[in-house]
Amino acid sequence: MIRHIPVLAKEIYEQTVISHKDKFDNYYHLDCNFGDGGHIEYFIDNLLHLDKYKKIFVYALDLDEEAITRGKNFLKKYDNNENIFINIIQGNFADIGELIPNIKFNSIIFDLGLSTYQLSGSGRGFSFKYDEKLDMRFSTLEPKEGELTAYDIVNFWSLENICLILRQYADEKSAWRIANKIVEVRDIKKIETSGQLADIIQDQVFGGKKNKIHPATKTFQAIRIAVNAELQVLDQGLKSAFESLKENGFISVISYHSLEDIIVKQYFKKLEKEGLGSRVNKKIIIPTLDEIKQNPKSRSAKLRIFKKKKK
Ligand SMILES: C[S@@+](CC[C@H](N)C(=O)[O-])C[C@H]1O[C@@H](n2cnc3c(N)ncnc32)[C@H](O)[C@@H]1O
Repeated sequence: MIRHIPVLAKEIYEQTVISHKDKFDNYYHLDCNFGDGGHIEYFIDNLLHLDKYKKIFVYALDLDEEAITRGKNFLKKYDNNENIFINIIQGNFADIGELIPNIKFNSIIFDLGLSTYQLSGSGRGFSFKYDEKLDMRFSTLEPKEGELTAYDIVNFWSLENICLILRQYADEKSAWRIANKIVEVRDIKKIETSGQLADIIQDQVFGGKKNKIHPATKTFQAIRIAVNAELQVLDQGLKSAFESLKENGFISVISYHSLEDIIVKQYFKKLEKEGLGSRVNKKIIIPTLDEIKQNPKSRSAKLRIFKKKKK
């Protein structure tokens, strides 16, 4: 199985551990987007090498049960290390305080979006490249009553609302044309799969012309953001992370599109203005050319880091 490659791991580690002068016995780390556990592995391996902490406590969250099962396999090598405690919990990072109520962390990482496995093999319709059931929820549980899936948006939302999310969440210039076509096609027969949706956009709206970027890219992004309420959840997640942070602790956020980055930037600025800490970097940190060459998926990544003030 192809493993997700962690993005900007070295940069986060250097800014939050190496540059950290405080002394404490144990290290408490929270990864809000467990995925394939790549960031966690990078952190643990380097912390072990540093030989500075007696015990390392690692917590991780992910909504996707399959991701958790996959990721755990990559971390089996620490099973017999009595100084490392790994606890992976299925849940939403909007709820850190409820999921892990009694622990304050030295470091909290968000690595937003999708893992390689979700894009290419989860069967949930995240990618226009595969013909899968239109679901797009990060969560693997059966949808609860009223819980939104991509199928619901595409087949039951009004023309105006589909158009609105395409504009709002992906700045799709052809929003009206795409939304119109979706409504026209679904009135004849429901749109069941990601492949059908991609074909509607590519063949019928754009006459099958081949572009460098697939014409369905933005539509898929917008629908995924709406299904998972990603922007609202990020907002709650950041607040909940701040509450769960130790004094002098760090929150690092890797985002992949400007709507996420604006939320992170504004929240960190607000905390700074209120005297609650400071931004470690005022300008975004981006991957080096070398990293982008090794992992092209990292090219849109933006990293912001915040440090909580000591009272
Ligand atoms: C980019 S991947 C993380 C990859 C990971 N850093 C690694 O190195 O392997 C993002 C992960 O976050 C999860 N996720 C997305 N939104 C979430 C949320 N609100 N709460 C918890 N997990 C979430 C996804 O299911 C996915 O597995």
